[in-house]
Amino acid sequence: MGSTARKVSLTGIKPTGEPHLGNYVGAILPALDLADSYESMYFIADYHALTTVRDPALMRHYTRSVAATWLAAGLDPDRTTFYRQSDIPEIFELSWVLSCMSAKGLMNRAHAYKAARDRNREAGREDLDAGVNMGLFNYPVLMAVDILIVEADVVPVGRDQLQHVEYAADIAGSFNSIYGDRYKLKIPKPVVPEEGTAHTLPGTDGRKMSKSYGNTIPLFAPEAALKKVIRRITTDSVPVEAPKEPESSSVFTLLERFGDPAVVAETRARLLAGGMGWGEVKAQLTEALNERFAPMRDRYETLMASGSELDDLLAHGADKARKQTRPVLERVRDAIGIS
Ligand code: TRP
Repeated sequence: MGSTARKVSLTGIKPTGEPHLGNYVGAILPALDLADSYESMYFIADYHALTTVRDPALMRHYTRSVAATWLAAGLDPDRTTFYRQSDIPEIFELSWVLSCMSAKGLMNRAHAYKAARDRNREAGREDLDAGVNMGLFNYPVLMAVDILIVEADVVPVGRDQLQHVEYAADIAGSFNSIYGDRYKLKIPKPVVPEEGTAHTLPGTDGRKMSKSYGNTIPLFAPEAALKKVIRRITTDSVPVEAPKEPESSSVFTLLERFGDPAVVAETRARLLAGGMGWGEVKAQLTEALNERFAPMRDRYETLMASGSELDDLLAHGADKARKQTRPVLERVRDAIGIS
């Protein structure tokens, strides 16, 4: 394949928690799909996490956990360039350069920053910037750099990140309008999952599964822990004998997603007919998840062990990534007159 045919898909994963089932379906699977048709570059956005994660042990744990999860889920490090943001010094140099091309007003309008100000307003605080650090404020610039420095064509993200990708295009445009005759940054396109598609899952309380709702099902929990979480899924209190609406609880919706189709069909019929309790559906779900994820969990645990190949894989990924990021930074430096 000639270099003109190289189409890059890039996404970043912020290591702020243990990956859950919603991440798997909403982010990991779609990104792994795209890796078939694009040259893929996926990375752990550890410096983005620094705006909130302040415990060094936790920072290291989440970073490794997210990396191990993607690898266990099937990311092939020979086909996808998989790296840690913090291993790519070019990102941080370009970040300064592009912050000089980014309008402050654009940052004022960023959703996350505005939400922080809204929270302060609602709490009656006089200083609307209370608790806001410059990392949060500059977050969109750093993210733009992640994207622009590898000349990404497409950026698969959740809807909540759409504005950030638009900002990256905007910032690239500002750079190009000044230096475009010397060097042009590539304008990226966001790829967001369609609304109400296979990309979202209900959580234990029936709302969309999300870390911020505290309703997640962990991907690689040991079976006992998994059982405990599944037992907590909300159901109605219709007696065992009575007919039940299968879709009224996320237990069934989740079983539909991960269970054997024959079991799902039979369970649906038994719920509708009456005589089947939710407890039994929960046991089926536990079994289905266990079956589906146990092999991945073994791989995850191997990678998480200290001294595993994980750190080497990431270091190797960074070497590969820098083959893209070094020349882009070089061209930018040359364009702006710093060399
Ligand atoms: N901000 C993204 C999130 O919170 C993570 C991220 C950082 C990212 N850099 C990126 C996503 C670049 C796509 C491209 O989910």
